[in-house]
Amino acid sequence: MQKENAGLNEVQRNPGSEIEFCSLASLKDRLPRQTTAVIADRRVHALYGKFFEEFPLIQVPAGEPAKSYSELLNLYKALAEMEADRSWTLLALGGGSTSDLAGFAAHTWMRGVRLLVAPTTLLAMTDASLGGKNGIDLEGYKNLVGSFHFPEIIYCDIDTLYSLDAGQFSSGMAEVIKHAVLQGESTFAFLESLAEKGRESSPANFPAGIDRADMLRMVRESQAVKLNIVARDPKEQNERRLLNLGHTFGHAIEKVTGALHGHSVAVGMVIACDYAVKNALMDANTADRIKQLLAAFDLPTNLEALGYRGGRKALSDAIRLDKKRGGPRMNFVVPRKIGLVEIHSVDIEILTNFIEKEVS
Ligand SMILES: NC(=O)c1ccc[n+]([C@@H]2O[C@H](COP(=O)([O-])OP(=O)(O)OC[C@H]3O[C@@H](n4cnc5c(N)ncnc54)[C@H](O)[C@@H]3O)[C@@H](O)[C@H]2O)c1
Repeated sequence: MQKENAGLNEVQRNPGSEIEFCSLASLKDRLPRQTTAVIADRRVHALYGKFFEEFPLIQVPAGEPAKSYSELLNLYKALAEMEADRSWTLLALGGGSTSDLAGFAAHTWMRGVRLLVAPTTLLAMTDASLGGKNGIDLEGYKNLVGSFHFPEIIYCDIDTLYSLDAGQFSSGMAEVIKHAVLQGESTFAFLESLAEKGRESSPANFPAGIDRADMLRMVRESQAVKLNIVARDPKEQNERRLLNLGHTFGHAIEKVTGALHGHSVAVGMVIACDYAVKNALMDANTADRIKQLLAAFDLPTNLEALGYRGGRKALSDAIRLDKKRGGPRMNFVVPRKIGLVEIHSVDIEILTNFIEKEVS
């Protein structure tokens, strides 16, 4: 925590100090049962609702459809029916879609109520639940409406990660690998060793191919990367933008292909690496190492692997319309080495030309 920012609400609630590794089963005796609304999608409820039977429940759709204005309205109506007042707590139980929706509801319901998050996906545990961002999508644009509202506590039950299917798990691995590229050699090499071990287990599969101790270490190291950056730049005015590595192309890919967030980010990271190599900002061996690690965790490394056969123009159009652009240039995160990543202000036409002409 930075001393000079100690007066800021967000930093006082430094998420780094309020992550708890515990079992979901232990939560029911620690939270007020009458005034904690549990928000979960159907699948997560079927898997883990048994730990929250006595709590008021609000069910939301699974995945991205939860992040809509109509679902936000449904959530408000459910809270109204429960007569939830400012003393209530919202507990988001599930993946990033659930916590993004619930986080925004918690920030706005009665001008703000207490938010707790129990992330059950790798992506939510290492990324979406950290850093206070929430939001819903509007007219096809992701996260167009949202706010910053930090959860008071993030309860992480590592065991929940073992019920994820392979696709959801690898989607989270993309962000874990992104954090490792930001962090440096030690975390990156640790992930390489996990991929190696996973391959040795027969048949090589994830998440089962990672044992519990390694999973815990992987999650903790990944969380630390994001939390340290967020603590230094909570409102994304500077350094926090580094976390967008792979996301400029990734968001465009996600919008056009409908692929999972992490899968789109994986291909976005590969394209960012290719851009860096082409502009002599990164050596080809490092780019290959990143691609190999993504592939080792069953992540796509090109558009074809995502099943996308459409033209590149749709992708460049999506980049042009990116809500974060604002002007003819955009902040583009360029990987230089493992552990060295920079923000470059790049003319948007350079990026759109790159995707139209250089991306296979
Ligand atoms: N706020 C942020 O800072 C931030 C950061 C990154 C991503 N996000 C957002 O997160 C969203 C993606 O979230 P996500 O990938 O965590 O998943 P998700 O919430 O979209 O859920 C994906 C699927 O996984 C299922 N699921 C969840 N936990 C499970 C478990 N333990 N076992 C089996 N199935 C389980 C869900 O039912 C759902 O079907 C995107 O909308 C993205 O924009 C937000």
